[in-house]
Amino acid sequence: MYTHTAVTLPEQFTSSQDWDAYTPENHGMWNFLYSRQRKLIESRACQEYLDGVDLLGLTPDRIPNYAELSNIMHKKTGWRIAVVPCFIPADLFFSLLAQRHFPATAWIRSPENVDYLPEPDMFHDVFGHFPLLVHPTFADYLCEFGKGGVKAMKAGQAELDMIQRLYWFTVEFGLVNTHLGPKIYGAGILSSKGESIYALEDKAPHHVRFDLKRVMRTTYRIDQFQKTYFVIDNFLQMFNDTMQNFDPIYAELKKTPTISWTEIDPKDQVIQRGTVEGQPDDTRTTPEELMEKLNKTRAEREGKKP
Ligand SMILES: [Fe+2]
Repeated sequence: MYTHTAVTLPEQFTSSQDWDAYTPENHGMWNFLYSRQRKLIESRACQEYLDGVDLLGLTPDRIPNYAELSNIMHKKTGWRIAVVPCFIPADLFFSLLAQRHFPATAWIRSPENVDYLPEPDMFHDVFGHFPLLVHPTFADYLCEFGKGGVKAMKAGQAELDMIQRLYWFTVEFGLVNTHLGPKIYGAGILSSKGESIYALEDKAPHHVRFDLKRVMRTTYRIDQFQKTYFVIDNFLQMFNDTMQNFDPIYAELKKTPTISWTEIDPKDQVIQRGTVEGQPDDTRTTPEELMEKLNKTRAEREGKKP
């Protein structure tokens, strides 16, 4: 049984889901995205994720109600949804995770931005992240990660960079090994039409066996499909790795060069050596275009809620 500790967010990062304010178009967008993506990931997502979708009762017919989802999550793993209006600062993000609160937005993309958004909307958060929050080991991992993040914030920028890489290559872009081969558990892949096919079936990206230090050394790009995916054995491996004290690892890695997002390291256990070429989806943009899109999306959102 989990007890619920309410968290207080700074006023500018406090929001709520006004479910009744969603328009038929908003529900239609959810229906379109859910139906399309559910079909795509049925054979590509890991079983733990698919079980989570069922447990939460996600369906195409309506945008889910956060109060209902939050209650299911809380009963199962002690997690709650903290509704936020936009990206939040790293210290707040880590502290929410450490207290088993997942920051999620409540707005949904418009038809013009159907396939790529610089900033996560509720489809990314709900469809990508929520299903694994009801898996006990993953839920524990993410909480431990949050505690690690709080510590890293106090330690310095190098430590923060390292722990953010861990989040990126696991929670957002992770693959897990199964008896049927690698499957997807990362939310950034699961909520992307193009990347959910590319990550598993394209010859471009490397698949490298997960190693904590290797992951913490690897740089990443936010504006393109990944060129390296790390494959874990299972969620318990990730949880156990995160339970250790990162201080000696940070100290060692500060003296070690980073590894580029396209590079294979001689010590890697390579599952697939990618060609690191090509880009199957031209909807990804330059950082400048990305900022422009981000500002446009924000302005639109402020004009028409939710
Ligand atoms: Fe995300």
